[in-house]
Amino acid sequence: PRPILLTRHGESQDNVRGRIGGDSVLSDSGNIYSKKLAHFVEKRLKSERTASIWTSTLQRTIITATPIVGFPKVQWRALDEINAGVCDGMAYEEIKRNMPEEYQSRKNDKLRYRYPRGESYLDVIQRLEPVIIELERQRAPVVVISHQAVLRALYAYFADKPLKEIPHIEVPLHTIIEIQMGVTGVQEKRYKLMD
Ligand code: G3H
Repeated sequence: PRPILLTRHGESQDNVRGRIGGDSVLSDSGNIYSKKLAHFVEKRLKSERTASIWTSTLQRTIITATPIVGFPKVQWRALDEINAGVCDGMAYEEIKRNMPEEYQSRKNDKLRYRYPRGESYLDVIQRLEPVIIELERQRAPVVVISHQAVLRALYAYFADKPLKEIPHIEVPLHTIIEIQMGVTGVQEKRYKLMD
């Protein structure tokens, strides 16, 4: 069996401010996570001849991967966070106050709701297809450092969760989800690296 490690980026400055989207750097706690993650990955994958680290093209995932050394890194635009379009950079409270109809439509159907000039969860699921094909093809371990909405979709694929649950799956910060792809199926372990 070979592991696929899924993790969100370390806490970002926008996470602290409660803003969605953006391209901010990490908070102090996010920076601590990046070091703990590197330590974990180096220990977990030290016996593996090859492994690779995949990130999105956004700073918060690239910075989270920085302390990990000795493995090739690949940036995928398809791993970027759901595009919140006109709501990019806003807090949920602001959306609720300034664009109540948008807020309500998303609440009614989070899977299909598409942000104006942005994406829906269904759009994200679709753009992940090449990533999933490549993940399945790889024979070596892969560490995927990405974002909440994207990881919900990736995790759902491996854990065989129904579409409608995807937007609500819990993918906490500072936690590694290890998926083991074996002949008998998929096994999962979680490592919470910080409180
Ligand atoms: O910035 C986007 C969030 O990571 C996605 O969360 O789909 O629950 O609003 P949400």
